[in-house]
Amino acid sequence: MTQKMKFSRAFHALFLINFISHFVCTLGDSTSHRGSTEAVSPFPSEFLFGVATSAYQVEGAVVSDGKGLNNWDAFSHKSGSILDGTNGDVADDHYHRYKEDIELMHSLGVNSYRFSISWTRILPRGRFGAVNLAGIEFYNNLIDSLLRKGIQPFVTLSHYDFPQELEDAYGSWLNPQIKEDFRYYADICFQAFGDRVKYWATFNEPNILAMHGYRTGIYPPSRCSGSFGNCTHGDSEVEPFHVAHNFILAHAAAVDTYRTKYQKEQGGMIGFVVNAIWFEPISNSTEDKLAVKRAQSFLINWFLDPIVFGKYPSEMEGILGSTLPVFSTSDLNVLRNGLDFIGVNFYTSLYVKDCLHSKCEKAMGSTRTEGSALQTGVKDNVPIGEPTPMEWYYVTPQGIESMVLYLKERYNTPLFIVENGYGEDNSANKTVEDFLNDTKRVDFISSHLDALASAIRKGADVRGYFIWALLDNFEWIFGYTKRFGIYHVDYKTLKRTPKASAMWYKQFIAKNREIRTPISDSNPQHPQYY
Ligand SMILES: *[C@@H]1O[C@H](CO)[C@@H](O)[C@H](O)[C@H]1NC(C)=O
Ligand SMILES: *[C@@H]1O[C@H](CO)[C@@H](O)[C@H](O)[C@H]1NC(C)=O
Ligand SMILES: *[C@@H]1O[C@H](CO)[C@@H](O)[C@H](O)[C@H]1NC(C)=O
Ligand SMILES: *[C@@H]1O[C@H](CO)[C@@H](O)[C@H](O)[C@H]1NC(C)=O
Repeated sequence: MTQKMKFSRAFHALFLINFISHFVCTLGDSTSHRGSTEAVSPFPSEFLFGVATSAYQVEGAVVSDGKGLNNWDAFSHKSGSILDGTNGDVADDHYHRYKEDIELMHSLGVNSYRFSISWTRILPRGRFGAVNLAGIEFYNNLIDSLLRKGIQPFVTLSHYDFPQELEDAYGSWLNPQIKEDFRYYADICFQAFGDRVKYWATFNEPNILAMHGYRTGIYPPSRCSGSFGNCTHGDSEVEPFHVAHNFILAHAAAVDTYRTKYQKEQGGMIGFVVNAIWFEPISNSTEDKLAVKRAQSFLINWFLDPIVFGKYPSEMEGILGSTLPVFSTSDLNVLRNGLDFIGVNFYTSLYVKDCLHSKCEKAMGSTRTEGSALQTGVKDNVPIGEPTPMEWYYVTPQGIESMVLYLKERYNTPLFIVENGYGEDNSANKTVEDFLNDTKRVDFISSHLDALASAIRKGADVRGYFIWALLDNFEWIFGYTKRFGIYHVDYKTLKRTPKASAMWYKQFIAKNREIRTPISDSNPQHPQYY
């Protein structure tokens, strides 16, 4: 490159740093102004401020070191599955760059990292083969490197991915057998990592997997029927409930193993992560208010009620009757293990309209087996919040407060917000500088943290908040067409660059809590942090 080009690039970089620091200072001022009226941070001193990723979305290294193929490996390689025809074969190459990524986290000052373990790195062939020691070693290295920086691992056992072998052998989540295979896998993870991992989540958003894998068929294993989607196999009105039932029992099996074999000695917590949309009635009619209850039941309480109370919500029993699977006495015994926390992924609120007493067009939620509660982001042509580039996602910070207070009231269980963030279109028109100046993401995150603080002041037991995501990454069926990261990733070079939101979060964390003393390098096997 010419001298002139070099100069222009250097100048550009300098300009960018100046603008970002200016931007952060401006924001910092507004935060400190707010701080001066509230002397005490509403966030408890042990609060986890973190960032999140998941294995398939960031790791890459699709067949490295003995990893087996999972459902997303198989699905993303089928043509037409992913919007831009891409896959997670390389993704952010986090598998090879995790040390660099931990440096990024350390520079942010986060005290926790939420990631997931790739089931097929540990058990390449599901239940049917040996444990892959290279997979164990990778996560040991990741966990030890995090702890050396004072960053607590917050680990999901299965974040949308599971061995393709289990799909091919017996139909995965449609078969009750899977709970024993999940228990077996979870046991290996508790044994290998539980001396250092104190936060375990069994599953991420099985409510979304049940819907998209088995009702609309847009996720693997691409099952649906009738007008719900275009699939060659499936039953959209029945299978989601069987799949959910098996997820609930698999969660219970893993918790049972943790409680009986590990928890007393290891001293951690184990929970479950739901996708949680806050629903508002589209009018003040009694019908629409009851429709909101059905929408909540068919999305969230569907999973949490059985785990916490040992039964499906009455709204579901009333509508579904014998379509809803039944828990046997021995199932109920295992379900009594419950959970220690609820993990909440919050992105948006939506309006709900009753479809039992009035006619609805076919839309999300409107059919009987979805609860006859149509969901929409718009009322009288006015959106419920500022629309975002993600269809169905609106900026509704008030919703996170309402959601948290609702969950507190219903379940009275500790909560972690384990995902919250803002997705942008990866438009070819935009320059890197455009992506780095992510003012909308900063507004989104800061307004949600404000609303969360308000819920905590009202007594909600919220113990952590994780931004989705640390890095731009593979956004499932959207491939690389959406960017959620607070670090920009150049997918050609895999270079990571902090966005304004990363700078903002760093300042926010520094203001809200003292950064913990890093654990001594000399003895990473026996961290003293817990
Ligand atoms: C199914 O495919 C047909 C033809 O490609 C399309 O018109 C229709 O909208 C699809 N239905 C759904 C529910 O995706
Ligand atoms: C419902 O009633 C409340 C209180 O009267 C009012 O503030 C709100 O705007 C009403 N909502 C709708 C959708 O009509
Ligand atoms: C690029 O920008 C033009 C003009 O603003 C717009 O019409 C077009 O849709 C954009 N293309 C993409 C891929 O976003
Ligand atoms: C960053 O974005 C904001 C709002 O979109 C805009 O006002 C500002 O000029 C941008 N800054 C730079 C340096 O591009």
